[in-house]
Amino acid sequence: MPDRIRSSSSTRPLLLLAVALASSLLGCERLGSEQGSAGAPQAWEYSEAVAPAQASSAMVSTTDRLGTLAGLRIMEDGGNAVDAAVGISFVLAVVNPEAGNIGGGGFMVIRLADGDTYSLDYRERAPAAATRDMYLDDRGAPTLRSLRGHSAAGVPGSVMGLWEAHQRFGTIEWPVLLEPAIELAQGFEVSERLASSLARAQSSLEDFYATREAFLPGGAPPAIGAIFRQPDLAKTLSRVRDNGPGGFYTGVTADLIVDEMRRADGLITHSDLSGYAAIWREPVSFRYRGHTLHSMAPPSSGGATMALIAQIVEGYDLPSFGRHSTQTVHVLAEASRRAYADRNQALADPDFVEVPLDRMTSRDYARARGADISMSAATPSQQVGPAVLVSEGAETTHVSVVDAMGNAVALTTTLNSLYGSRVTVAGAGFLLNNEMDDFATRPGFPNQFGLVQGERNAIEPGKRMLSAMTPTIVEDRDGELFLVLGSPGGSTIITTVFQTIVNVVDFGMDVSQSVRAPRIHHQHLPDRIQYERGGLLPTVVDSLRTLGHTVEERVGTSGDVQAILVLPDGTLSGYSDPRRGGWAAGF
Ligand code: DON
Repeated sequence: MPDRIRSSSSTRPLLLLAVALASSLLGCERLGSEQGSAGAPQAWEYSEAVAPAQASSAMVSTTDRLGTLAGLRIMEDGGNAVDAAVGISFVLAVVNPEAGNIGGGGFMVIRLADGDTYSLDYRERAPAAATRDMYLDDRGAPTLRSLRGHSAAGVPGSVMGLWEAHQRFGTIEWPVLLEPAIELAQGFEVSERLASSLARAQSSLEDFYATREAFLPGGAPPAIGAIFRQPDLAKTLSRVRDNGPGGFYTGVTADLIVDEMRRADGLITHSDLSGYAAIWREPVSFRYRGHTLHSMAPPSSGGATMALIAQIVEGYDLPSFGRHSTQTVHVLAEASRRAYADRNQALADPDFVEVPLDRMTSRDYARARGADISMSAATPSQQVGPAVLVSEGAETTHVSVVDAMGNAVALTTTLNSLYGSRVTVAGAGFLLNNEMDDFATRPGFPNQFGLVQGERNAIEPGKRMLSAMTPTIVEDRDGELFLVLGSPGGSTIITTVFQTIVNVVDFGMDVSQSVRAPRIHHQHLPDRIQYERGGLLPTVVDSLRTLGHTVEERVGTSGDVQAILVLPDGTLSGYSDPRRGGWAAGF
């Protein structure tokens, strides 16, 4: 645990509370080798058994220990899961600047203790001056400008989303929820993850002077254990504390954002900022083997794509095949191939195009869509709908919270790529997203990264770009809260979340096994199954190839799931994915 948290300084009452809380928490515990009991090959990196955190009242899982502690502290003080999720989001904007943010956007799925569900879209929007071909060069070829620099930024949604969620469901006063983040922005001890992530990103961060100043103090990434101070961010968060969304979308912060835009080719104006609204949307809800899943509706593709995958997979008895067997991987890949083909063709911002959501999430459609799956041969993607591909991002983060009343929140937020556009708003201390790259910058054609998306997801002023974020809450067969989860991972988010659910529902894994188990991914095009290194037996890879699949080992791991499972006796069992390293804890 960082020294700062261990500090006994009497000037830090909130942190003292954290010390007391941390010492009473039940965290994860290593149990020795599990010998591949999750059905994974023994070579699998995460096969060592780790007991989940268990608690009777409340649980938080995030990618950062300080984020988890902040959430627990808020709930200890009487806040509910929404209060905790809001406070955690602001803390992650400080301690996890590669993904946690106030300059990006996200989605939140909420299930109250009475079973009512809600979902909030606070995705970024294209600025009013955005145009369909704005990222193409003179010859019509895509450029890097959708990814890097001022023009890559969509109008941020995070502050408005967190405010909206708090307005509707929060119980703790807004300023109190901002305090932990403001305090940490004044200085916190750099974790190993942040130090190594800043070091990896250093060369691209150096390109933008305010980013250099903010994140490379003295010209280099801060060392592990150094105290990292973000005074401009502390001031911005203080304005948000004092003025709510007015502290971001109008006034000093808005002026600083617009000034930053004018330094280069940025498009965001005062009226883009003051016109931003978060939107409550009906969650996408569907059944999977008697469980009810609630997930995110468009402009995220997560819920609809997962609904189609799940309802195709439901036609197969996966346990009779084995979790990491040729047949199970084949079924998951064939279902995903079809669902992603539809995702790319059909889904986009529902406020701009008509989205066939009811059809794509219906059981009848899933049956028809999966009817041509053969168990003896892969279906080439060319025979499955249009040739489209989903964009892969680099850094996002998920937060899962359950409170003592039984309310639950699943929240996924992102800047899109690692450190977003790399542009920091000078004087305001936060990074802007590069979410504009989630639009089809050149519909129907592969861009320079080989990415192709449909016409419906073309850039239009004020439109939200299609997302794959899949914050999800699962109810058991009796309609009780069962599982809260989500993940980063760009286009792999949907398959990651669904396979984690399959591990619990179909294979009875505990929350730790289900998160640690190796994952596979298929997204229609490129026509290949990707697997995590060591995650499939060589014999399974060979037999998948015999079925006609192209099978490739992934570079790096897939996703970073934060999950909370409710056990039959009501115990909360939390687990934070070891792939990127986080912390689940409860009380
Ligand atoms: O909204 C989306 O789908 C992407 N912008 C998410 C990017 C992402 O997950 C990167 N994380 N690893």
